[in-house]
Amino acid sequence: MTISETNDTTAVQASAPNHDGYCDFTLGNFHFRRDEYFAYVTWPTGEHTLSIDDFLRAMQRDVAWDFFYGTVNFDAVVGTVNHYGTVDLFAGQFNEVYRKAERDYVQNFPTPHIRETFKAMLDDWTIEGFDPFASPAETDKPFGVKAGSNTEAVTRRRVTAARMVGVPGDEEIRTDATHPVNRMFADVAQDEPTVEAEPGFEDRVAAFNLFAYLSRSNVTWNPSVVSVCKDSLYCPTTEEYILPIIHGNDRVEWFVQLSDEIQWVVEDRDTGVLRSKVTMRAGDVAAMPGDIRHQGYSPKRSMLLVWENASGELPELIRTGKAPVYPVEF
Ligand code: PHB
Ligand code: FE
Repeated sequence: MTISETNDTTAVQASAPNHDGYCDFTLGNFHFRRDEYFAYVTWPTGEHTLSIDDFLRAMQRDVAWDFFYGTVNFDAVVGTVNHYGTVDLFAGQFNEVYRKAERDYVQNFPTPHIRETFKAMLDDWTIEGFDPFASPAETDKPFGVKAGSNTEAVTRRRVTAARMVGVPGDEEIRTDATHPVNRMFADVAQDEPTVEAEPGFEDRVAAFNLFAYLSRSNVTWNPSVVSVCKDSLYCPTTEEYILPIIHGNDRVEWFVQLSDEIQWVVEDRDTGVLRSKVTMRAGDVAAMPGDIRHQGYSPKRSMLLVWENASGELPELIRTGKAPVYPVEF
């Protein structure tokens, strides 16, 4: 069942603090509640419980990426679909069992409404010391009754270069003062390339050491835009433990494994049926099709280059069969 919200208010509907100190949130016909260990999501035909650490890590990505490309599954039941202007909030829509039992439910919201509610919930439910973007080994726990907050972490600015990191006026190179080298990347060389520009071209030629840049990332599973050429975005990221969402593609994505190893579980986007398991080691390149969902497992902190085509036309071209769901014909 799908319904659309007609009323375009962006007002956040929050209750007074509950027994554990957290507000409940109502968004359309969905209701969200947290206690010491869990997030509870209810909708007119069902209810669902998620561990609060998984929930906050997924919510953090959905908020920071402004609903990302396509589908952000928090788990096998709840998530969002980005329609770039509006967003579907769903329960069981991509789960065969929920659909067969007619327990599935979808409600569409203007993006500002769901964005503001999710931001408020993430901020209220994240306690002092818990950083949803950090690897589990580098943060305190999210459990327990309400105790402080971590607004600085949950609102951190996302790196999005206009042209490229290191270009004058664009995103800056990282240094010891702002971004110490991560414990797992202590062996990554920190030298920077020497640029010898012809006179008059000093502002137009730039280069930086991407490995050194990534070795200083203090977040995990958070692709940031380091270079842009029209719709072609280089979005490298450092990964450790498990990607906190199951991403449903609405376009092809290329992966280049820059270091170490990630194991990907690749499923059919709409049913969740397993399609393949892909182990990527340093130097491996893969194209993830436009009709899958995937979740990565990184046993050690690793570097991954995600190459995105940000063209706004792609979802429709793929949906109508005018563009294929895979990028290359061999
Ligand atoms: C993806 O869904 O393709 C994705 C998301 C976040 C990452 C890496 C890959 O850190
Ligand atoms: Fe993806």
